[in-house]
Amino acid sequence: MSPLHPESLRPFNTFGLDCQARGYAPFEDADTLRRWLAEADGPVLILGGGSNLLLPEKLDATVLHNRIPGKNVIHTEGDQVMVQAGGGERWHDLVTWAVDYGLGGIENLALIPGTVGAAPIQNIGAYGVELTQVFHQLEAIERSSGQIRCFDREECRFGYRDSIFKQEEKDRWVILNVTLRLSRRPQLQLDYGDIRKALAAAGIGSPEIRDVCEAVIRIRQSKLPDPGQIGNAGSFFKNPVVPSALLDNLRETWGEIPHYPAGEGQVKLPAGWLIEKAGWKGTRRDRCGVHEKQALVLVNYGGATQQEILALALDIRRDVRQKFGVLLVPEVNVIGGSGEALDPDSAS
Ligand code: FAD
Ligand code: EPU
Repeated sequence: MSPLHPESLRPFNTFGLDCQARGYAPFEDADTLRRWLAEADGPVLILGGGSNLLLPEKLDATVLHNRIPGKNVIHTEGDQVMVQAGGGERWHDLVTWAVDYGLGGIENLALIPGTVGAAPIQNIGAYGVELTQVFHQLEAIERSSGQIRCFDREECRFGYRDSIFKQEEKDRWVILNVTLRLSRRPQLQLDYGDIRKALAAAGIGSPEIRDVCEAVIRIRQSKLPDPGQIGNAGSFFKNPVVPSALLDNLRETWGEIPHYPAGEGQVKLPAGWLIEKAGWKGTRRDRCGVHEKQALVLVNYGGATQQEILALALDIRRDVRQKFGVLLVPEVNVIGGSGEALDPDSAS
């Protein structure tokens, strides 16, 4: 295990934040991981692609970096194909690998940054598909005992940007691999957002798996900032689920508001719309700001710190709450004690 150099975790997080941790060690298999877990004295942070993290400048933890490789077909039954991938594989590489083999089910999740092992943590989702729809099982190591356990879909308790690994089992497990149930003849999901429009623009009438994947890539590239160009962690907040009655009230002041069904008597509102209408879109505050094309994405223009980004997030949240009566909850994992300021209980 090596101490970190001054440049620290900057290359390992898409926000591009400098972070000096206590130590750093990559692992490519379960045995090495077990060894590092036993050697680390004090807290441990499991790192994947670092695309959903807001890191502090000093982190009193040892960072263990998941590099477990592998993408394999492990079982086939008719059109159904079970695919297992190592937790350290890049998620998007798994998507393109599946598409190349004619396997459908995750093409709408193309270009989501990060690793396979982190995908179940928040049940990644985009363009009308969530991981839970194709998830079969995962294997994880218990940090305290080093024992391996399987979790099936029900045990993962997936929800919108949520799973048991963000709730009761938070920080207890390291996900080693994930098994998905893909299909040679998938039901393509074309109804979300601009997918049909993008397909029509490309002159595609009867889309195949690859066409959907490419359409999603084009849409994402036109909307979301590339972390290679400008530091960010995707949506900073989750889209809030509110009572339908609140939507009715808000319409009286704000007119038509985009929304999605979210169960009996509830709707999901786009946080990006709320933040834009509150006047924050494109705002720049010193070294950080709100992206000019997507108000839900906070950006690091270079050299920003966790404290600066958190201060901006708190001001946005306070303002949205005052204007709309809606509390925004972060999607990004705020590492270190400062994250408590964004807990729903400490809402200001
Ligand atoms: P990290 O950021 O490294 O870690 C995230 C959390 O998971 C941390 O708490 C970490 O400790 C934990 N963790 C990581 N790996 C493991 C493991 N193997 N075992 C146990 N715990 C682990 N998300 C979406 O859902 N949909 C989107 O459309 C989307 N678009 C994005 C676009 C951009 C430009 C960016 C930057 C991010 C986007 N995200 C999106 C968020 C992010 O890509 C996902 O949350 C992704 O799954 C994070 O993976 P990661 O490997 O980078 O995790
Ligand atoms: N909107 C605005 N202004 C903005 C941004 C959005 O008015 O600045 C409106 C749009 O016009 C649209 C609605 O909000 O009516 C939704 O916008 P968009 O389709 O861009 O999606 P989103 O709700 O902002 C969610 C996910 C993304 C995912 C996309 C596509 C969350 C928190 N975010 O964003 O996931 O890629 O849908 O499915 O659910 C992520 O989790 O990091 C992420 C990027």
